[in-house]
Formats: sequence, structure tokens, C-alpha cells
Amino acid sequence: MPFDAYDRPIQYLRVSVTDRCNLRCVYCMPEEGVPKLSHQDILRNEEIVRIVRIAVEMGFVHIRLTGGEPLVRAGIVDMVSELARIPGLDDLSMTTNGLLLRRYAEPLARAGLRRINLSLDTLRPERFRQMTRWGNLEDVLAGRETALAAGLWPVKVNMVVIRGLNDDEVVDMARLTLQPEWHVRFIEVMPLGAGAHWSGDGVVPSAEIRARIEEALGPLTPVYNEVGIGPARYYRLPDAAGTLGFISAITEHFCRGCNRLRLTADGRLLLCLLSGASVDLRTPLRQGATDDELRDLFLQAVLIKPRGHTLEEGIPATLPMSHIGG
Ligand code: 5AD
Ligand code: SF4
Repeated sequence: MPFDAYDRPIQYLRVSVTDRCNLRCVYCMPEEGVPKLSHQDILRNEEIVRIVRIAVEMGFVHIRLTGGEPLVRAGIVDMVSELARIPGLDDLSMTTNGLLLRRYAEPLARAGLRRINLSLDTLRPERFRQMTRWGNLEDVLAGRETALAAGLWPVKVNMVVIRGLNDDEVVDMARLTLQPEWHVRFIEVMPLGAGAHWSGDGVVPSAEIRARIEEALGPLTPVYNEVGIGPARYYRLPDAAGTLGFISAITEHFCRGCNRLRLTADGRLLLCLLSGASVDLRTPLRQGATDDELRDLFLQAVLIKPRGHTLEEGIPATLPMSHIGG
């Protein structure tokens, strides 16, 4: 597996398969959306499969499909089944908003998807509609059930916490983990895309969320054997089946443990969520680059991965979140 210049093992590739989305979460996009990539700019299935195969041969072991919303991409089930056949790729997952899961969970599981992360920022139908602008909470909750029934496991729920919008629900969300199969992760809102609106005051520090949960529901015990491969720190409530995770990009630097690269829907390797730097794979790929040449570009990207983000120096110019996939 490749190591970067700071001795971090880089083994996790997040693949954005589309910049399109069927929701408009207020912290991600304006209602009218963001400028769309053109059809030719977006990698075709076989191009994505080739890039992922090369990554897996290099030692990447975790591949996560993101968007936009990955389930609005035509042919997503076929893509999953081709990816799942890549030798050595054991951990194939997806981050989805869940709207279409009722229809897709079963075919995706059959195609070889292992597990999913689901965005769920509120348990109140009215507020869900406000925060996503277009969404129906019932679709997501039913989609989650379908996913579990189809054998996608575990299902982790992601809640982006924003002060004044949904932070009064952190205890309710935490309480869900007392029931079987609920794993909930609390994410500090990041100042990217429409999220910039809530930078500063809108951020609820993970320490504050933890304190509120402990006050209401009892002490949290750290969970060390959690299978998570990302930056979340995991805990459990007394007697809870499920876990609580905290992703604190703002208040607790986790760059030291960063193990990932991102592939954008238009074929660029992004080195860091919070920096614009990227390495273009699509142009060489379409000009006939060999596997070896593409592998060299991957290694180059790994080697110039920055040590960490510089948010305290200001909000960097980056792509919209819907082009990056969280
Ligand atoms: N801050 C934090 N998370 C965000 N996401 C989108 N925009 C932001 C933001 N500004 C998350 C979504 C989803 C994933 C795809 O990215 O909630 O879980
Ligand atoms: Fe779509 Fe995800 Fe952005 Fe919401 S956060 S608008 S579901 S891409």
C-alpha cells in the first residue's frame, strides 16, 4: 500500500460517481443547484472500474461510492457489480441520502455492495423537508429498513449538526442507538459550499454534543474495536447496541490519521477535502495511458498530499461539496 510524504498509509479511495443530486440540503447546495459537469466530462463506468482496479492493485482496500447522490447515476448497479468483481476489493461501500434505497438496496446488495452510510439530519418530517428542500423523511427511513433487510451491514447514519437548525435533536438521534442496528455519527458542519453560511457560530463542537448526550443519557464509553476506517471517534451509551461517532473536522484536527484520496466524477484525484489541489487522471486515460502510467499518477498524487488543512487561515477555494461527495 502506498505511503505519503508524512508516512500515512493511503488505502481508502472515495469515488464520486456523479455530481447530480435529487436533494438540495441547505448546507450543501443552493436550491438552484451548482453548475453541472457535462456528460462527456463525467467518467464512464468502464473508466471508473479501471481506475479503481489500478487503485486496488496498488493496495487501496476501501472503496466508497459517493456523489452527489450515487443512486441517481444511470447504471449504478452494473457499476457496483463490476467493481465488486475486482480481486482484492473486499470493502465496497456507498454514502447515499437514501431516497432511492427502497428500489435499489436489494439489487445493490446482490451486485456486491457491502454496507452504506446514510445521511439523516433530523427525525422530524417537516424539518427534513426544510433541510433537504425536496426530501421526504419516510422514504429515507423505509430505505434504511430495506437496506438492512437486504443484508447491507452495518448501516451508519450521518447527521450534520448545525446550531439553530437541528442541534436540538442530538439527544434524540443518540437515543436511537439504544435500538438494534442504529449507528449514528455526528458531523461538524464544514464551511464548504453552502455550508460556509454556518461557519463559526453554526458549528456545534463535538465536545459540546458529547456533553449534551451524556447529560441526558449517561456516560459514553469509548469503543476501540469499531471497524470504522475514517476520522470518526466512536463511543457507546450504557447498554446500547449501537455506536455513536463524532467527526470533528473543525474542532479536533484529524489530518494526522488521514488515509484517503478522492476521485471526482470528472476524473481528478483530490488530495484533500479542504484544498483545491488535484491530479487529472481523465485526460491521460482518454489519451491511451497504460496501467503503469496511471499508477505513476496515483503515486504522484499520494506523494503531494498535503500534511493537513489550513482552515484556521481561512476558507479555501474548493469544489462544491456535491462534486466531492463528503
Ligand atoms: N459539512 C459537513 N458535511 C457535509 N456534507 C455535505 N455538505 C457538508 C458540509 N458543509 C455531507 C452530507 C453527507 C455527505 C455526502 O457529505 O451530509 O453525509
Ligand atoms: Fe445531495 Fe448529499 Fe448535497 Fe444533500 S448533502 S444535497 S443529499 S449531495
